[in-house]
Amino acid sequence: MRKNHVITISGAGSARVPALVGTLVNYKERFPLSKIIFYDIDNERMGRMEAYDRLVLQCFYPECEAVFTTDEDVAYRDTDFVFCQMRVGKTEMRSYDEKIPLKYGLVGQETCGPGGFAYGMRSLGAMKHMVEKVRSYSKDTWILNYTNPAAIVALGLDKMFPDDKRILNLCDQPFSLMKSFAKILGVPQENLRARYFGLNHFGWFTALKDVDGTDYFDTLRTYLRDHDFRPFNAEQRSQSWLDTYVRVNKYMQYIDEYIPTTYLQYYMFPEEIVAESDPHYTRADEARDSREKEVFEACEKAVGKESIDRSQMLTNSVFGNLMVEVAESIAYDLNREFIVLVRNEGIISNFEDDAIVEVAGTIGKEGAKGYPYGPIKPYYKGLMEGQYAYELLTVEAFMEQNYTKALEALILNRTVIEPPKAKAVLDDLMEVNKDYWTLK
Ligand code: G6P
Ligand code: MN
Repeated sequence: MRKNHVITISGAGSARVPALVGTLVNYKERFPLSKIIFYDIDNERMGRMEAYDRLVLQCFYPECEAVFTTDEDVAYRDTDFVFCQMRVGKTEMRSYDEKIPLKYGLVGQETCGPGGFAYGMRSLGAMKHMVEKVRSYSKDTWILNYTNPAAIVALGLDKMFPDDKRILNLCDQPFSLMKSFAKILGVPQENLRARYFGLNHFGWFTALKDVDGTDYFDTLRTYLRDHDFRPFNAEQRSQSWLDTYVRVNKYMQYIDEYIPTTYLQYYMFPEEIVAESDPHYTRADEARDSREKEVFEACEKAVGKESIDRSQMLTNSVFGNLMVEVAESIAYDLNREFIVLVRNEGIISNFEDDAIVEVAGTIGKEGAKGYPYGPIKPYYKGLMEGQYAYELLTVEAFMEQNYTKALEALILNRTVIEPPKAKAVLDDLMEVNKDYWTLK
């Protein structure tokens, strides 16, 4: 019999939560729960989904208690896992992160470039507070973090809590890409085993086999070089995501050795991406008008209802599956394979020991372990050194409130480069973010 766990969903006002609840229902034999604590500082937003979340649990998971709270002590006092996906500043701030860089002809993206920098600075403050609060109650609670930019958050938390072995940072993009590879190859995703290296949102697949050892890498690599890449769930994706996938092919027409993550495009084709962006309507607007709208509508229908058809339950969440499978792997020490974020410490043998790298590895009761990768070639090492220096200077700028380090970070970022642009965008972002962070 598997033990029943208590989880806290931190950032339960996220429109991703209803699908996470559906995933928890679907996984209830594998990862049984006795209680879910829904926590958000925005009660109004969380409240828009509460009736739906409660109805789904009442119908399909009656043995699991549901608590909704805006009190962080209630949220963190007695819980086994914190599923953290807070978005500090919500969509409103995401919108600034994406639009301000575009004013200066720079990439406007949630996690990459100046927008990712500003978001990282916001996330670090709130994440530090959350970890301290959780640890004030228990050193055993697992913190599974999905808050972005995961690269900055993971590195920052590692600097601020270096001995804490129960914080795990997650990104669903490699997981999502693996699902798409499986579909292209016609092989079940569970059977595929990848080799991968990089930093979060900045990495490459370098091998792909199935459990029996059949090698699919060259087939996939040449397919992706010569055909448009479509995500496995293309029907559910907005246009900007479809465009994002296709740029993988574009990059591979130049360098086809490995398969890059979709996020590499922002560093490789910044001018083209800026030219195609609408400075008045970015991904924040698109996400609000598509996913968020659909989820809120589905949730409104649940108000006052006594029952819901199982086919109406939202489950289409890659992130939800990843979170639950990771929690299951920790709880039952399954040591299943994932692409993980871990302190390098020799995994990539010719790269910075203190960097948080993204590599294939396993997750069990001791947390995540990366498989040793070995050395990487100069082209990749050069790209990663610059990006890692950007990440480190961002974290140090946050910890020391150091303006110069922030400026250096942005100059190092391949989407920025020129000091005058770096300064202009930094000053603008700092002004808009003054309720969240400042630099001296
Ligand atoms: C992927 C990334 C996440 C990112 C998300 C944005 O899943 O791995 O880090 O937050 O995409 O998706 P959205 O649909 O909100 O633009
Ligand atoms: Mn991610």
